[in-house]
Amino acid sequence: MILVFGSINMDLVASVAAIPRPGETVLSPGYRTLFGGKGANQAVAAARMGGEVAMVGRVGNDGFGASCRGNLAANGVATEHILTGAEPTGCAFITVDAAGENAITVASGANGAVAAGDLPESLVGADTVAVMQMEVPLAASLDAARKVKAAGGRVVWNLAPAPPGLKAADLRDILAATDVFVVNEIEAMMAAEALGGASDFKDAARRLVQAGSTICVVTAGAAGAFACEPDGTLHHAPALPVTPVDTTGAGDTFVGVLAAELALHGRLDEALRRACAAASLACLAAGAQDGMPTRRQLDDRLSGPAGAKAA
Ligand code: RIB
Ligand code: NA
Repeated sequence: MILVFGSINMDLVASVAAIPRPGETVLSPGYRTLFGGKGANQAVAAARMGGEVAMVGRVGNDGFGASCRGNLAANGVATEHILTGAEPTGCAFITVDAAGENAITVASGANGAVAAGDLPESLVGADTVAVMQMEVPLAASLDAARKVKAAGGRVVWNLAPAPPGLKAADLRDILAATDVFVVNEIEAMMAAEALGGASDFKDAARRLVQAGSTICVVTAGAAGAFACEPDGTLHHAPALPVTPVDTTGAGDTFVGVLAAELALHGRLDEALRRACAAASLACLAAGAQDGMPTRRQLDDRLSGPAGAKAA
């Protein structure tokens, strides 16, 4: 069973020629309202892989909250443990430029009220693969992760977004409660900063592994992803050759598919390869969730000529 403990947002997305710099105003023809939140995105990605997924998080008593809940349910995610509170549903303001790159501001709202006690014991067991990110309070996620570990389950921790000025003690707590730590190149360097710095992201991955005996996975966009094991072995999986339309949610797709594959068969190389390919496909559609492949779509793509070439 996959437990996603984390954020649920509505994304307000505007396309621009170039992302505005501080003090600059740019015009966009309009905006779209799309489902997002790193936690919710990861839950949907895992469910589309055929995983049994339950989401724990909070939404507000508002229209966005009802639609976000409905969207998760429509994707096969169990939503009965999502609480509805007084704070408004989390909302992300996203600008996407002509190259598919984005800049995101998240108004946390209800996500900020997520608490350790929100996790029901029924979701904690030896077969639980828990997925954490950084859009709900750290203390709550840490507590949840420790409970899952104590029960013999596994924890995938996505340090996204990486908080500036992350304290070494907090990072060490996270690593100690984590089996698979997932970061992009920037987050890897930011995390390594808390441990005294690193020369590049591969060096960062090794330092993170040493600090917590976890597997450290670094996603590197078009260069695919790298996984560093506790003994220092480095695995690489390629991305598919795609021309991105919108990279929003690519990292979440990676994390959700990785968790689903670890829950289903546990083979790291295979999980890494499939998570990379799924993240590439997610870049081909606008918004965080629209491009996330189903298991069938991913299988088809990986067995086709393009997939074979990329592998
Ligand atoms: O990772 C992408 C997500 O980050 C968006 O869906 C947005 O909600 C923010 O949380
Ligand atoms: Na996308």
